Amino acid sequence: MTSISLNQFIIEEQLQFHHATDEAADEFALLLNNIVMACKKISVEVNKGALTGTMGNLQSENVQGEVQKELDVITNEIFLEYNMHGGYFAGMVSEELDEPYIIPELQREAGRYLLLFDPLDGSSNVNINISVGSIFSIVRNPQGLATPHFQDFLQPGTQQVCAGYALYGSSTMLVLTTGNGVNGFTLDREVGEFFLTHPNMRIPEDTQEFAINMSNQRFWEPPMQRYIAECLQGKDGPRGKDFNMRWIASMATEVHRILVRGGIFTYPIDSKLKQKGGRLRLMYEANPMSFIVEQAGGASSTGHERIMAIQPHALHQRVPVILGAKNEVERLVAYHQN
Ligand code: F6P
Repeated sequence: MTSISLNQFIIEEQLQFHHATDEAADEFALLLNNIVMACKKISVEVNKGALTGTMGNLQSENVQGEVQKELDVITNEIFLEYNMHGGYFAGMVSEELDEPYIIPELQREAGRYLLLFDPLDGSSNVNINISVGSIFSIVRNPQGLATPHFQDFLQPGTQQVCAGYALYGSSTMLVLTTGNGVNGFTLDREVGEFFLTHPNMRIPEDTQEFAINMSNQRFWEPPMQRYIAECLQGKDGPRGKDFNMRWIASMATEVHRILVRGGIFTYPIDSKLKQKGGRLRLMYEANPMSFIVEQAGGASSTGHERIMAIQPHALHQRVPVILGAKNEVERLVAYHQN
């Protein structure tokens, strides 16, 4: 247990590794502090569970045609509200909004960054008390416009300056990268601060644990059929080792498990998803998680290309995702090439 707070850590990291000036380091810490406060607030809301009566479905659907939970809408509002102040962001894109949210021009200059987020990942299962999370990605406001165009948000994952997720589990954690490794912080509720508890998180290159929704098996393409079939054959098959399987249906929680104890996670393309392009969203799920995974020594691909190299064409674009242990991801990519 260390006593390095998230705030201190960010300032030191900016000064040491990004050669920021004192002023720029403070500004970045303040920007992140807004996100951190939003996550703390969401943690409180999620933790109240059924007491607030907000676990149910609404009549509405989000832009993806998914039924919204009341908590989806509440947590989206929290993210917007906490991040519209300070003048750091010019606009935000959320899973729960059809169009970008442009910050009203209250401040002198346009915000230098754009924020993309999924306020409550895994929310379809929040009523069964599993861990859920918030995922976010920060890119520069490329033209410096006070009213950025939607194309300004369409930057490949390689352009991210910061990505992270908060996990609302048995403890609340925040895991972050600014391109200099991955660090995890745990919320001390009594103090009200996140403290560094998981410095320099690394994903082992090999694993014996995979995560996939097996109920979709009959719809998968041949490379995924082959990979999982070989894992299931265990010691008796070509892999020569037994594999374990996990599926939580909450991407933030799955990625966290991989960062803590290794593994591979995939939501592949299948014949049901073909029209949509995949299940998970590129801009606020796949890209930030890919940045984190790569920074922790793992890999991330659609099977055909590196996720972070994709030039996005739509805000709510979906992609197939294969991420985690480097050697396993590379094996799957090789199966796709065959
Ligand atoms: O995108 C939302 C999400 O809940 C992910 O967090 C998770 O990996 C996936 O969907 C679960 O999908 P399914 O319900 O098909 O298993």
